[in-house]
Amino acid sequence: MIGTILETIGQTPLITLPNTNKADEGRVLFKYERYNPGGSIKDRAASYIIAEAERRGLLKPGGTIIESSSGNFGISLAMIGAAKGYRVLILVDPKTTPANLALLKGFGAEVIVVTEQDDSGSYHKTRISLANKLAREMEHAFRPDQCFNLLNSDAHYKSTAREIIEACPAGLAVFITAVSTGGQLGGISKYLKTFAPEAQIIGVDAVGSAIFGGHKDAYLIPGIGLGWTPVNLNMDHVDRAYKVTDEQAFLTARVLARHEGILMGPSSGACALVALKIAQELSPDQQIVCMISDGGERYIQTLFNDEWMEQQGFATAADIETLRTMARQLQPWSMRPADHANYRSDLIESLEVPDTTLLMNAELQGREAYHSGNSLYLD
Ligand SMILES: Cc1ncc(COP(=O)(O)O)c(C=O)c1O
Repeated sequence: MIGTILETIGQTPLITLPNTNKADEGRVLFKYERYNPGGSIKDRAASYIIAEAERRGLLKPGGTIIESSSGNFGISLAMIGAAKGYRVLILVDPKTTPANLALLKGFGAEVIVVTEQDDSGSYHKTRISLANKLAREMEHAFRPDQCFNLLNSDAHYKSTAREIIEACPAGLAVFITAVSTGGQLGGISKYLKTFAPEAQIIGVDAVGSAIFGGHKDAYLIPGIGLGWTPVNLNMDHVDRAYKVTDEQAFLTARVLARHEGILMGPSSGACALVALKIAQELSPDQQIVCMISDGGERYIQTLFNDEWMEQQGFATAADIETLRTMARQLQPWSMRPADHANYRSDLIESLEVPDTTLLMNAELQGREAYHSGNSLYLD
C-alpha cells in the first residue's frame, strides 16, 4: 500500500506458537499489535479519538493534545501529533521506561514526569488530575482522556474486535487481554458478547492492582492495572479474571523471546502465560486469541536486561517445560469478575474529568441507542 503513516494502523497479524503450544492443546493465536506504526495497540484508540475530536471541532490546527499516559498511549499521540502538526504534552510517571521517554521526545512531545503518588500508591489519579488542570488552563487544548472517554473502547469495538472475528472463521473459544483503562477488554468483549457469544472472555491484571478487586500494592508491570474498575469496561462481559505477578510476567516474555522468537512487553507476557494455561484445558480445534499489546524493544533496559532482572530478584531464564509448569499452576483470581466491580463514578467529579469527554460520551451513547439492534457498527 501507499499511504500516510497513520493509514498503516490496524490489520495486525495472528501468530502461532509452534514450540510452547503443544499440538494436543487449544490453539493459541497472538494478536501482535507491535506492528502498528507507533509500536503498540494504543495507536488504534489514539488515532480514533483524535479523528473524532477533529470531526467535532474540539481539536483544531494549532491545538495542543494533553494526556496522562505511562507510555504507549502517549507515544501514539506523539506520533499522531507529529504526523498532523499538533503540539503534544504527555504526563508520565517514574515507572515510564527510559526508552519510552526517548520515543516521546523523538516524536517531539513535551514530557512532564509526575512523581506524587495517589492514595493507592500509583500515579494514575495524580497524573489525570494534573492533565485535566493543564487542559483547562491552556488555550486550544484537547484531552483525549483515555481513562474516562468511552471512545477508547469504541475504537476496539470497531476495529480490533472485528479483525479478530474475521480472522477466526472456525470460531473463537477464548479471548484474553490485559486491562488498564479497559479500552481493549471493554470494546472487544462488548463486540464478542454480541457477535461471538460462545467466546469466553478473560481479563488479566497485575497482582497489586485492583481492577478486579483485591489488595492494592506496588507492582512493576508497565501499562497494566488501575486502582478501580474503569468505565470503559463492562464487567458483566468478563467471564474470568487472572492476576499475574511481576516475575511471572517478565519471565514469560523472556522465555517467549528466546524460544518462539516473539518480542513482547511484560503486560503481554502476563497474558501469554494465561493463554498457555487455558490452552492446556482445551482441545486443538479450539482457538484462543491473546492480545500482545506491544513489542519488547521498549523494555530493553528492564525486561531484557539481566542485571535489572537480578536486582528485582527475578529469574532471568527458564526452559519451555518450566514455563508450561508455571502456566499449569496458575489459578484464576475470579470466576465471577462482575462481583468484584469497583466503579468510581465519584472520580468524574473529583478528578474534574473534562467536559469534552462527557460530551463525546453522551453523543456516543445516544448514537449507540439509536443504532442498537439494526447495525453492526455505530456509524
Ligand atoms: C503494553 C500495554 N498492555 C496493556 C494495556 C492495557 O490496555 P487498556 O488501557 O486498553 O486496558 C496497556 C495500556 O496502556 C499497555 O500499554
